[in-house]
Amino acid sequence: MIGIFDSGIGGMTVARAVEQLLPDHSILYLGDIARTPYGTKSAETITDYSLRNTEFLLEKGSGVIVIACNTASSVATERLRQEFRVPIIEVVTPAVHAVLARSQSGRIGVIGTSATIRSNVYERSITALAPDFRVFSQACPLLVPLVEEGWVNKRETKMILRRYLHPFRDKQIDTLVLGCTHYPLLRDLIQPRIGKRVGLVDSSIETARYLQSFLAENPGLVRANGEQPATHTYFVTDLTDSVQQVAARIFNRPMELELV
Ligand code: DGL
Repeated sequence: MIGIFDSGIGGMTVARAVEQLLPDHSILYLGDIARTPYGTKSAETITDYSLRNTEFLLEKGSGVIVIACNTASSVATERLRQEFRVPIIEVVTPAVHAVLARSQSGRIGVIGTSATIRSNVYERSITALAPDFRVFSQACPLLVPLVEEGWVNKRETKMILRRYLHPFRDKQIDTLVLGCTHYPLLRDLIQPRIGKRVGLVDSSIETARYLQSFLAENPGLVRANGEQPATHTYFVTDLTDSVQQVAARIFNRPMELELV
């Protein structure tokens, strides 16, 4: 089984892409809603939560772990790889590869949570592979709570986005990384505000593709279900009406969320 975790519902954008690309694989998802947001917390706390999330998914039988959260990927990946023997897939590397493949100008914008931007992980990873690239970053700490609340089409959200994207105006970027798995849910608001000539890199889709090739190169790591239909189990550490509604909107079907 493929174990996927996030601080909340944002990682469901990764799970949705994994469901589509790997329909024969069972998925166990854990959304740590009770402790969201991670992005405003310290690296130690985020790492501690990530260790516990991974333990939970391994106990339930996961053979590979996907950190469907840029914040946890930025600060906790190394520790998880030291602690556990299963493969740990994170969301930053696939997004960086997509940036390098797509950008013509080498001028890149990155938006993410405060912890992700503070870690500087995107700038370090991009310039390690392409030293002449320029990376401009912007922390957007208000976006995760707005998405978790289901405020994805409100006037206030649009105003806040305009404010966050303003610093990119004179930077001539041709690519913007949605460096938080919650942000694909704001994609339709971000694109017109950043301009249609700027390509958006969605870390959730890139991660699902990366996982697909990783599993193809490592057959036998997690078994596809064969005759049995794949199961998709979604655990959350807190359950509210808005979470239920946003989850249903992400998957376009009623979602059964299991409280743990
Ligand atoms: N989806 C998480 C990310 O990709 C959000 C983190 C948070 O809880 O602040 O960074």
